[in-house]
Amino acid sequence: MSQSDLDQYAVMGNPVEHSVSPAIHSEFSQQTGERLQYRAILVAEDQFPEAVQRFFESGGKGLNITVPFKEKAFAMAEIKDQRAIAAGAANTLWLDSEQRLNASTTDGLGLLQDLTVNQQLDLEGKNVLVLGAGGAVRGVLKELLARNPKQLVISNRTSEKAELLAQQFSSFGNITCASYSQIPDIGFGLVINGTSASLHGKVPAIDGALLVGSFCYDMMYGQNARVFLDWAIKNGAAQAVDGVGMLVEQAAESFSIWRKVRPLTRDIICSLRKS
Ligand code: ATR
Repeated sequence: MSQSDLDQYAVMGNPVEHSVSPAIHSEFSQQTGERLQYRAILVAEDQFPEAVQRFFESGGKGLNITVPFKEKAFAMAEIKDQRAIAAGAANTLWLDSEQRLNASTTDGLGLLQDLTVNQQLDLEGKNVLVLGAGGAVRGVLKELLARNPKQLVISNRTSEKAELLAQQFSSFGNITCASYSQIPDIGFGLVINGTSASLHGKVPAIDGALLVGSFCYDMMYGQNARVFLDWAIKNGAAQAVDGVGMLVEQAAESFSIWRKVRPLTRDIICSLRKS
């Protein structure tokens, strides 16, 4: 079978050159015996709908979508599942048997799989602090609230955005908001950094004492998570873990939507953590 006979998948984004998704899906393909090819496609900011259309018209089977196109992917899909609707964004696209464009987002499932299965963290009855109120946070709130935390406090540099999210997600569980300087010290079992502050070498301007004894998680991975994780440990966090597990688990969820097989993830997470 030549490469072009293989089922075609891709991640579309801008930038996308450094995406590790092709490597992850190639590992999944080898492990499961599902014969497919997965590549990264750089799409110009104003060319996204055309690029998606072209990909599926030429026989492509499924797409992952990354920054800055997740909202556009959601908007152009004909069928959207509940997760995508809550997130207002999609990271997974495929055509159904009637050739309709379907959208889902697997980020929330990926995060929860990493936290509750890989890290063995039980969120039920715990206080959870989520920092940030951008697309990354919006994509995981529904799944976090589904695990019945006692209280989920969302806090963001620009408070209004956190207020808005707390309102929008109030039907999914106990969610409140607080400004960075007024986060109540209620003992957080889990603190998630969903901001992009680390990309600027910064940590969110909250009181470090809030992290004492907490499990701290950064949704970014590798060097991009280091600033926050080092700061968390310095402030007495019980554990500090980056988002490489979330990355691999969200990929596994997309793979299982497309191929109906869920690949094993542990070895890939370990090897990415070492690299
Ligand atoms: P993403 O899709 O990655 O969530 P985004 O929607 O641009 O990206 O959101 C970035 C998030 O990181 C926001 O919550 C942003 O806070 P503001 O809403 O106040 O802009 C947060 N962020 C970025 N730089 C930050 C910094 N230096 N300190 C704290 N929060 C920061």
